[in-house]
Amino acid sequence: MQEKPKLNIQKSLMELDRARKLIPGGVLGIRRPYNFVEGEYPVFFSQGKGGRITDVDGNEYIDYLCAYGPIILGHREKEIDNGVIDQIQNKGFCFSLTQTIQNELAETLQTIIPSAEMCLFVKTGSDATTTAIRLARAFTGRKVIMRCGYHGWHDWCVEVKGGIPEKLYEDVYEFHYNRLDQLEDLLKEHGEDTAAIIMTPFGHPLAAPMEEPAPGFLQGAKDLAEKYGAVLIFDEIRTGFRISLGGAQKAYGVVPHMSVFGKAMGNGYSIAAVCGRRDIMKMGEKEVFISSTFFPNSLSYIAALKTIEIMQRDKVLEVVHQKGNHYMEGVNRVITQGGFKESLGIRLSGIAPMSFLTFDKDEAKLYKTRRDTFYTYLIRSGIFQQPYHHGYICYRHTLEDLDYTIETIDQALHYVKEVVG
Ligand SMILES: Cc1ncc(COP(=O)(O)O)c(C=O)c1O
Repeated sequence: MQEKPKLNIQKSLMELDRARKLIPGGVLGIRRPYNFVEGEYPVFFSQGKGGRITDVDGNEYIDYLCAYGPIILGHREKEIDNGVIDQIQNKGFCFSLTQTIQNELAETLQTIIPSAEMCLFVKTGSDATTTAIRLARAFTGRKVIMRCGYHGWHDWCVEVKGGIPEKLYEDVYEFHYNRLDQLEDLLKEHGEDTAAIIMTPFGHPLAAPMEEPAPGFLQGAKDLAEKYGAVLIFDEIRTGFRISLGGAQKAYGVVPHMSVFGKAMGNGYSIAAVCGRRDIMKMGEKEVFISSTFFPNSLSYIAALKTIEIMQRDKVLEVVHQKGNHYMEGVNRVITQGGFKESLGIRLSGIAPMSFLTFDKDEAKLYKTRRDTFYTYLIRSGIFQQPYHHGYICYRHTLEDLDYTIETIDQALHYVKEVVG
């Protein structure tokens, strides 16, 4: 198997140099080059259309990261953008009072999300998880939080602790996905003080295989929450509008007391929702102050309503799941036929709309070189996947895109076997 020629990413690297003088780290957070394969991946995109993106050097890729989740239909969806443009040109969107479009969106969520007796809208997933925690603490009059998964960058949950006094997260305890025993042990110790259990309903840790809920895990968490008088919050920021329109709670049939949504909800426009039981949500009337200048900005409400309308009308998630299954079947066939699980320790985890190729850790730490070589082969072939984060399927990925990707993964694994072993 031949090595793929290196991409020209000169402009990306020049722009990164420029950015580093202006912005700490050049670009923020998980989009920094060391979160990919440094020197191989582009750093700046210039545009996207459908399931494809183009970087500033003009290289085109099939986009399997989908902006880390928001892109569920595709980039530059005309119908959504036209709805937004219409609002800009004919009504306006940033006022001192709220436009009634919020009521329409809340009514829509109420009909599709099982836990949504009431909703409120914020801008980001971190806003939403933090709001839910505050409402739950106010409702229970307790302070302890049990958490499982990534919930954003705010003080109570971010992993990197720089700039955060310990007292702002000392009442937060972490348990692992599918480890009900760990949650139970924590609750035995702190149950009386526990305000909320916040967890992703699907296991999607960074740089590790994804996990479906073990039988009884989600219901078990709900039973424990109720036993100890805590609020169960599903963090559906990734699973919402992707596993099903009503989230993982609908797909797995376990309705939490509260849930939060974001990412795919507006196909790229910045919106997130906190949904939940009426009595808990009503803490937001007086006890809890929820306000930001831009929360009522209605462009993202328009985008969310349009996204949901299209998803319902065109059965978008049925198509996404069919495409995702086609992709997963193809990749699994390649892995089995080549014996790559045994020889390279590669595995595909996840479910149709979101899946991840990881290399099992080995003592000699070959997995790191295998991972970098593999993902380098993909990016050089025009396939944008993330070495440390699962990917997503969107509506606009074509069967040709998927088949090309499956074929390239086959070549890439042969190549890794040849050069790394
Ligand atoms: C499960 C989950 N919760 C919360 C967040 C935070 O969302 P945001 O990055 O929009 O603040 C994320 C972001 O990746 C997420 O995946």
